[in-house]
Amino acid sequence: MPAILLLSGSPNANSRSEAILHHAAGLLPGQDFTTSFVSARDLPPEDLVLAKFDSPQLKQIQAQVAQADGILIATPVYKASYPGVFKALLDLLDQDALTEKVILPIATGGTLAHLLAIDFAMKPVLSVMGATTILKGIYILSAQVQFGTDGKLQLEAEVEERLQAGIQSLVEALQRNKTAR
Ligand SMILES: Cc1cc2nc3c(=O)[nH]c(=O)nc-3n(C[C@H](O)[C@H](O)[C@H](O)COP(=O)(O)O)c2cc1C
Repeated sequence: MPAILLLSGSPNANSRSEAILHHAAGLLPGQDFTTSFVSARDLPPEDLVLAKFDSPQLKQIQAQVAQADGILIATPVYKASYPGVFKALLDLLDQDALTEKVILPIATGGTLAHLLAIDFAMKPVLSVMGATTILKGIYILSAQVQFGTDGKLQLEAEVEERLQAGIQSLVEALQRNKTAR
């Protein structure tokens, strides 16, 4: 059964992009996939900032990445790119950690002006880490992501449609990979 890793890049504990990540994972045909979750916040800050390659929590994250067939990434845009803590986490993974993984990147940002952050900031890093199947990214304005009084995520229909299409493309790419092997 293919394994999907949900990778969150936000340092914020009440993160919009992370809520979308979990929502998008819920759109997967559940019986066909296993999922696990990693956040940049899972590492002790000192291990992250001081690049402690022997960190036990890092070993656990490295194993989760290694086991994944597909990776669903969701991150906020920070300074027309993505958060430094997320880059710090990527820096602690092996240079070829993303080889043969199918990647679906999702980003939330305050402005449409930084729509290309996925293509210009994130994709080059994913590529250099070995990823060759990086699916079309999904950019969502933070204003399109609301939480109801019950705390539940509320998404515009247009966002929901794009997430469903993205998940469908992830499922199809994983099936193609399985057939090719
Ligand atoms: C430090 C910081 C820098 C940001 N820089 C940008 C930016 O350059 N472009 C943009 O569109 N949004 C920017 N934003 C807004 C966030 O991308 C947006 O609020 C996002 O939805 C937050 O996601 P999160 O709740 O998952 O952390 C920034 C937010 C913060 C806190």
